[in-house]
Amino acid sequence: MSEILLKCKDGAYPIIVAKGAKQDIPTYMNQLGLGKDAVIITHPVIYRLYGKSLSHSFVSKGYSVKVLNVPEGEKSKSADFALKLIEQIAAYDVKRKIFIVALGGGVIGDLAGFVAAIYKRGVPYIQVPTSFLAQIDSSIGGKTAIDLKHGKNLVGAFYQPRAVFTDPSVLSTLTKRQMQNGMAEAIKYGIIKDATLFRYIEDNYKPILANDSRKLLELVERCVKIKVKVVSEDEKETKGIRTILNFGHTVGHAIEAAGDFYYQHGEAVALGMRVAARLSVLKGFLDPRSELRINSLISNIPLPDKVKNIKIPQILKLMQHDKKFVGNKNRFVLATSIGQVKVVGQISDDLILKAIQSIY
Ligand SMILES: NC(=O)c1ccc[n+]([C@@H]2O[C@H](COP(=O)([O-])OP(=O)(O)OC[C@H]3O[C@@H](n4cnc5c(N)ncnc54)[C@H](O)[C@@H]3O)[C@@H](O)[C@H]2O)c1
Ligand SMILES: [Zn+2]
Repeated sequence: MSEILLKCKDGAYPIIVAKGAKQDIPTYMNQLGLGKDAVIITHPVIYRLYGKSLSHSFVSKGYSVKVLNVPEGEKSKSADFALKLIEQIAAYDVKRKIFIVALGGGVIGDLAGFVAAIYKRGVPYIQVPTSFLAQIDSSIGGKTAIDLKHGKNLVGAFYQPRAVFTDPSVLSTLTKRQMQNGMAEAIKYGIIKDATLFRYIEDNYKPILANDSRKLLELVERCVKIKVKVVSEDEKETKGIRTILNFGHTVGHAIEAAGDFYYQHGEAVALGMRVAARLSVLKGFLDPRSELRINSLISNIPLPDKVKNIKIPQILKLMQHDKKFVGNKNRFVLATSIGQVKVVGQISDDLILKAIQSIY
């Protein structure tokens, strides 16, 4: 078991990574003293797999529990669902002291975190990530959001959870596609910060995808530590440090939205990382052999190499909403080697177009 502390402006919170971590949640919550009324936000399928037992363990420790379900899929990260949840919480929250439990993947984490941030100007919440992607990325760092039709994550808040409970044994019920999806973010960490992690994934992706519990636990812990380090240095993304976590996301988010979420987040990010690597080579920052290594690893997972059914102008239009862009000036996270990136602005439209053409 490891307990990794994320230090932020309003204090610090633990990310507990361990097999069986979720069994201890009610006991841990007693220590945190957040209240006795748990509102679990989840999907029906995750409730059946893990929510029922979590509810029982809360009840057995004297908590009341309200379970609120939303449908699976990115479409639930919407203003409609956020407001519906808030109405349901308000109806339940009479003479109570509630805290929210986000039990699920990144969609649940972002949505439930956003609801926690805005209901009564903020109520406490904890993250219990159940997808690979959520365990290594979205559950950590307090970025909460919903989508608009103009783009992903355009409404949101920085709002940190009080604790994150990460139990890699729940990953055994993920589909192969969902495991591959999470792998994109793990590869991203290798590219932006840790060449040895990149090598570890190259050497071990097969057993990891086959759910080798020891290797998976090691990968989750290593990724969590990188995310914690980056976030603690730049909690609200004001210093240009946290921005590096967006490697591959400028084009990735645009592909996700343009494809109406045909591509899962990690799949779109994989395509975006290919474009970012290409752009890095075109700018003369990255040597072509490193680009080849990045592309080969993405292909081996396998994650997509070509984009289907989306036209380039759609991607270019949606990219304008990228939060990294300032005014009409673009900004991209580009690699200088495997393990190191930098933020680069004012790249010519010509080069961007050339880089995007590499995934067609
Ligand atoms: N806040 C952040 O910092 C951040 C970072 C990265 C991604 N994100 C967001 O995360 C979202 C993507 O997250 P995701 O890939 O986890 O998608 P997701 O939440 O839709 O989960 C993928 C699927 O896996 C299922 N699932 C989850 N855990 C399971 C389990 N243990 N067993 C069986 N099925 C399970 C879900 O029900 C869902 O159908 C995107 O909206 C993205 O924008 C946010
Ligand atoms: Zn991401």
